[in-house]
Amino acid sequence: MQRMALVTGGTRGIGRAISVALTGAGYRVAANYVGNDEAARSFTRETGIPAFRFDVADFDSCEVGVKQIAGQLAPIEILINNAGITRDGMLHKMTPQQWQEVIATDLTSCFNMCRVVIEHMRERGFGRIVNISSINGQKGQMGQVNYSAAKAGELGFTKALAQEGARAGITVNAICPGYVNTEMVQAVPKDVLEKSILPQIPIGRLGEPEEIARCVVFLASDDAGLITGATLTANGGQYFA
Ligand code: CAA
Repeated sequence: MQRMALVTGGTRGIGRAISVALTGAGYRVAANYVGNDEAARSFTRETGIPAFRFDVADFDSCEVGVKQIAGQLAPIEILINNAGITRDGMLHKMTPQQWQEVIATDLTSCFNMCRVVIEHMRERGFGRIVNISSINGQKGQMGQVNYSAAKAGELGFTKALAQEGARAGITVNAICPGYVNTEMVQAVPKDVLEKSILPQIPIGRLGEPEEIARCVVFLASDDAGLITGATLTANGGQYFA
């Protein structure tokens, strides 16, 4: 019986690579997205993976979305909390909206999604949760107090839920990617990326989404049952947590 996985923000960027890699590893996969219908349609056309539209920042939407997936496909056994946004700016220029949007989409989403899948995982005595955090949650990043706080919050969330889930067969881990070649990083001003960020990466290049996806496949596997509450750092040597 194929295990059922859900990847939030799973139609673009790192999430897309995760959806594709999990499918390749033999899982049944659903991808969530919120805004870009066109990208979701071409994703499904190209990969055959169904996409479900709901807002992970909103608890009620998560409940509806997860029910829909369980009804149409199967109950979720593997949850990858990947959806995330940036609203960069120095604190002295940041608006409350920039703060709230990032906290809601990047951190509150983990509560929302885990809350709606956890009871079923506990009943079955099996679950895999992987939270995609960031190097910037580990080290902090100028211009990102909102994102750094949300991503650091995910690490505490991961460690707490790992303790709760252990006896129920549920592992909860985090991955901290460094700067990865996606639209999110391409949106960083070019001179900042080339002059300030790339020189800080010892391997001399951005990560590729598939490199993060392979970490997810490992943590999602039945074989990774001993690993829980861990933070897997994948950043080309830019920062050692
Ligand atoms: N690393 C190092 N230095 C940085 C930096 C970074 N990430 N971002 C900005 N700086 C430096 C700039 O090079 C600049 O230095 P100089 O004064 O020496 O030229 C200084 O900070 C001020 O920057 P700006 O002139 O750009 O100031 P601004 O107010 O116009 O914009 C900003 C500030 C919005 C933070 C803009 O610089 C920016 O978008 N920076 C990128 C921030 C960043 O790293 N975001 C990560 C996005 S990718 C991501 O988040 C995925 C992930 O998980 C890793």
